[in-house]
Amino acid sequence: MSNPQSAICNRESQILYRPATASDQKTIRAIIREAGINPLRWQWSNFLLAANAITSEVVGTGQIKTHGDSSRELASIVVRPAHQRRRIASEMVRRMIAQDARESNAPLYLLCAGNMLAFYERFGSRRVERSETPPYFYFRPPDAPGGLCGGFPARRPDCPVVTVLSAEDKRAYAG
Ligand SMILES: CC(C)(COP(=O)(O)OP(=O)(O)OC[C@H]1O[C@@H](n2cnc3c(N)ncnc32)[C@H](O)[C@@H]1OP(=O)(O)O)[C@@H](O)C(=O)NCCC(=O)NCCS
Repeated sequence: MSNPQSAICNRESQILYRPATASDQKTIRAIIREAGINPLRWQWSNFLLAANAITSEVVGTGQIKTHGDSSRELASIVVRPAHQRRRIASEMVRRMIAQDARESNAPLYLLCAGNMLAFYERFGSRRVERSETPPYFYFRPPDAPGGLCGGFPARRPDCPVVTVLSAEDKRAYAG
C-alpha cells in the first residue's frame, strides 16, 4: 500500500492527498469553521489534506490527534460542499487509518454524529459505550463542541457517538 501521506494524485478524481504545511493553517481553520464542527486543536502538522490537483484548492481535511490521556482520535474530517459525494472523505479516512496502523498500536477513537456511524463502520470502526471510552471522551462536557448530548446512548440521530477502531482492526483494514 502507498504511503497515505505521500502526495499521490488520484487521476480519476484529480485529487491530490498530501500532508499539510504551516502555510495551510489558515485554510484548515476556515474549512473547519465553515463546516461548523469541533473547533478544538487544529495543529496543521496533524493534518492530511485533499486538494484539487490542478488548482491546488484545498477541498478536504482530516487529522489524527493525540490527547493528554494518550488516546488517539481521528477528527476534523471535512469535505467542502461542492466536492462532496466523490469518495474524497473515504479516501482520506482510508489513508489516515493506514498511516496510523504503521505508527501506533493504540486504538483509534472517533467522535461522530450518530447518523454518520454507518460511514465509519465501513472502515471497521464500532460504536463504544461510555464506560469503554478513555478519560478524554468520558469527561467531555456534554455541551462542549462535539459534546455527547448528555451521555450515551445518543438521544437524537445527530447526537455525537464515540467509535473505536482497535489496533488489530486497523492493521487488518490497512492490509
Ligand atoms: C461527512 C463528509 C466528510 C463526507 O465527505 P464525502 O467526501 O462527501 O464522503 P464520501 O463521498 O467519501 O462518502 C461516502 C459515504 O459516506 C456517507 N455520507 C457522506 N456524507 C454523509 C452525510 N452528510 N450524512 C450521512 N452519510 C453521509 C454516504 O453513505 C456515502 O456513501 P454513498 O456515496 O455511497 O451514499 C462531508 O459530508 C462533510 O464534510 N460534512 C460536514 C462535516 C462533517 O459532518 N464531518 C464529519 C465529522 S465526523
